[in-house]
Amino acid sequence: MAAAQSRFVCQACGAEHRKWVGRCETCGEWNSVAEEAAPKYTPGGLKGKHKGRKLAFESLVGVSDPPPRLATCITELDRVFGGGLVPGSALLLGGDPGIGKSTIALQAAARLSKAGARCVYLSGEEAMDQVRLRARRLGLEHAPLDLAAATNVRDIVTSLSEQRADLVIVDSIQTMYLDSLDSAPGTVSQVRGAGQELIRHAKETGTILLLVGHVTKEGQIAGPKVLEHMVDTVLYFEGERGHQFRILRAVKNRFGPTDEIGVFEMTDHGLDEVPNPSALFLDRRDADVAGTVVFAGIEGSRPMLMEIQALVAPSALGTPRRAVVGWDSARLAMVLAVLDTRCGLAMSGNDVYLNVAGGFSIREPAADLAVAAALISSLAQRPLPHDGIVFGEVGLAGEIRPVSQAKARITEAAKLGFRQAIVPVLRSGKSVGHDMKARAMGELGSLVDLIFGNDGRR
Ligand code: TYD
Ligand code: MG
Repeated sequence: MAAAQSRFVCQACGAEHRKWVGRCETCGEWNSVAEEAAPKYTPGGLKGKHKGRKLAFESLVGVSDPPPRLATCITELDRVFGGGLVPGSALLLGGDPGIGKSTIALQAAARLSKAGARCVYLSGEEAMDQVRLRARRLGLEHAPLDLAAATNVRDIVTSLSEQRADLVIVDSIQTMYLDSLDSAPGTVSQVRGAGQELIRHAKETGTILLLVGHVTKEGQIAGPKVLEHMVDTVLYFEGERGHQFRILRAVKNRFGPTDEIGVFEMTDHGLDEVPNPSALFLDRRDADVAGTVVFAGIEGSRPMLMEIQALVAPSALGTPRRAVVGWDSARLAMVLAVLDTRCGLAMSGNDVYLNVAGGFSIREPAADLAVAAALISSLAQRPLPHDGIVFGEVGLAGEIRPVSQAKARITEAAKLGFRQAIVPVLRSGKSVGHDMKARAMGELGSLVDLIFGNDGRR
């Protein structure tokens, strides 16, 4: 019999190496390769003793009802799930340490258990007393939850098989282990193995499984990517340090949308829903300030207003500084280049700081025009009207492109008391309505003229 071989697996990406290396060639991570026992399975093992069972193929047309959903009655949470949790589905919730993953999981479980569902909270990280303490802080200590401190997947599956649960929360998947594997908890094979077993059990019994996952310093869920493929829904819980609000985002969702977000605020008694985020992200705005622009954005189905601040200052450095918070730095570089080349603004010799107030992170290209407006306004030292909003995409030729859901953006702005809008040229026949004074622009040059007042002082 051949001696048991071991293999070397990168704990960050799951790539296999023949020998130990200090840096994984696949993902570039340092010091992430660890030795693991080789798997028993050898390729070609199917050509063995018995034949497989014949499959009964079916047609695509069939009678299948939409899956029944279990609503948590936390509106912001249900919105991200797509209307509630689907029985038999597996979810993975990732986020930085201390962002509130355990808190939101406990709150959701408490709500569902009060509504009569059987919810099990398995804590592998915290002792029972810590979980109880948190529940007391949240005012949920009387919720009929089943609590256990457990890390052995065999014990967990056995206990869950005896009495079926509607929702099982595993906090966190990195602490779970299979006793049939040699490697330590948190290694790629353990995370993959434990995940597989738990998900298989959930699918068989129609249980909803919520796995809490750690993230690496790059912000990805730690462990193999394959874990994200195994689950039905991948959620990220985000937020800026020093800010109270938290955003829940689905990056994969087999049963719902992936562009919806849930907004919460961390208070001293847990996470509160924020039904009207626009009001939260807009600071007090009664004075006109140069470099400050309100962007009318859309997150999923919901319009959201955010303040973009820019500071353009002459640089003392050979290579000017570019600092961005809440937006893509590559997109900022693009907008700067367009302003420089197409509009003749001397941006390249200036330090540029860009900030989305409140700590929100914008991903829409529709923010291009608002960013450009903030930059031009800061450079010109001329404020835009404080009751105005801006949205539109900027192309490399300096053209302003239309964006989706213009009407919804304008309606939300009008609701919050804004009266002016700088927008892309709308498709013919459409008006913005709402007593809004809209200035439709086809190219960035017109915006520059508008802000500089066309007096040639650039
Ligand atoms: P937690 O849910 O433990 O984070 P995670 O599981 O993602 O690591 O949240 C911990 C943080 O939230 C901690 O810094 C304290 C804070 N917090 C509150 O501000 N209010 C509360 O009611 C609770 C329970 C936590
Ligand atoms: Mg936690």
